[in-house]
Amino acid sequence: MEVLLPLRFKGESVLVLDQRLLPREEKYVERYDLEGIYESIRSMELRGAPLIGIAAAYGMVLGVQNQSFTHPIDLLEAVRKNAERLNRARPTAKNLFWATDRLVRLVERNIDLPVEEIIYRMRAEAIKINEEDVEICRNIGENFLKVLRPGMRLLTHCNAGALATYRYGTATAPMYLGQERGWNFQVFVDETRPYNQGARLTAYELHRAGIDATLICDNMAAMVMSKGWVDAVLVGSDRVAANGDAANKIGTLNLSILARHFGIPFYVATPTPTLDLDLPDGSRIPIEERDSEEITHFQGIRVAPEGIKVFNPAFDVSPHENITGIVTEKGIAFPPFQSSLKALAEAPFLTGKG
Ligand code: MRU
Repeated sequence: MEVLLPLRFKGESVLVLDQRLLPREEKYVERYDLEGIYESIRSMELRGAPLIGIAAAYGMVLGVQNQSFTHPIDLLEAVRKNAERLNRARPTAKNLFWATDRLVRLVERNIDLPVEEIIYRMRAEAIKINEEDVEICRNIGENFLKVLRPGMRLLTHCNAGALATYRYGTATAPMYLGQERGWNFQVFVDETRPYNQGARLTAYELHRAGIDATLICDNMAAMVMSKGWVDAVLVGSDRVAANGDAANKIGTLNLSILARHFGIPFYVATPTPTLDLDLPDGSRIPIEERDSEEITHFQGIRVAPEGIKVFNPAFDVSPHENITGIVTEKGIAFPPFQSSLKALAEAPFLTGKG
């Protein structure tokens, strides 16, 4: 099966799979500069915390590589400004800020080098962030398989899949690895209103890969759980605070409460770049609010009365008490998360590449 790549760096540009068109059309658009990448992230042409981070890293490169700077200090000034610009594209996913900051720090560290050499290193760093993501997701998958068993029935929400990363996804990584190993997972996929990432993206990529997936509406999760048809809930995350409170797509909080009610393990897939241990708890995670038309309209057709008030938060925070384990590339954090997350954040990530 041909791998579906959500993005490809071409040196002078980035090819972005326009996820807004899925599942109807697989169409790539080409972005040549920082503003193009900003627009891709803002408009959700690409989305998902890790992919936003990868795209931002390339955006930082495109933002300077064809400009002329007389002195490295001018380059640093531009890089800082570009980071601020990209950071405004979306507020919740930590990976965006983590990636732009990583590029800014690289320039600061190399400020004594010639401008061309610094830009060369920025490009190498962005490619490294991209390549690391594949290993991070694969390791998350391996770590998940330590707590799952063949034949399990899983439930996932939104798209924490290959389309939200560079390969494998985070919450979907064990599904792909399990499939390679004949583990025969069955997966319930929440539709994920209002943006339908579950129906449009997760159902699409799992089905395309031949994984046993069943699409349900979000409000059916309680029913399938009550029937005993769900052995574990696996979701992604956009930002996880020091105490383990985890922000993810709106509706994840409902699932965490349901899982606790029905005694079903609830796991949150979290690459360490998604951790925000400077935040003591989830109450300070910025929650994006999106256009009311996502709720009042369906595919351009009005489905709610004109003038109705709308509240459309894109994310919610699942409290740490509802979370069984936070699965990172370095291992699984179990409660109490304060200490287990800190230990994982500080542990080295052995990429196998030396
Ligand atoms: O608004 P989106 O589509 O960017 O939200 C995506 C999610 O909430 C994902 O679950 C999260 O980013 C993790 S992706 C591995």
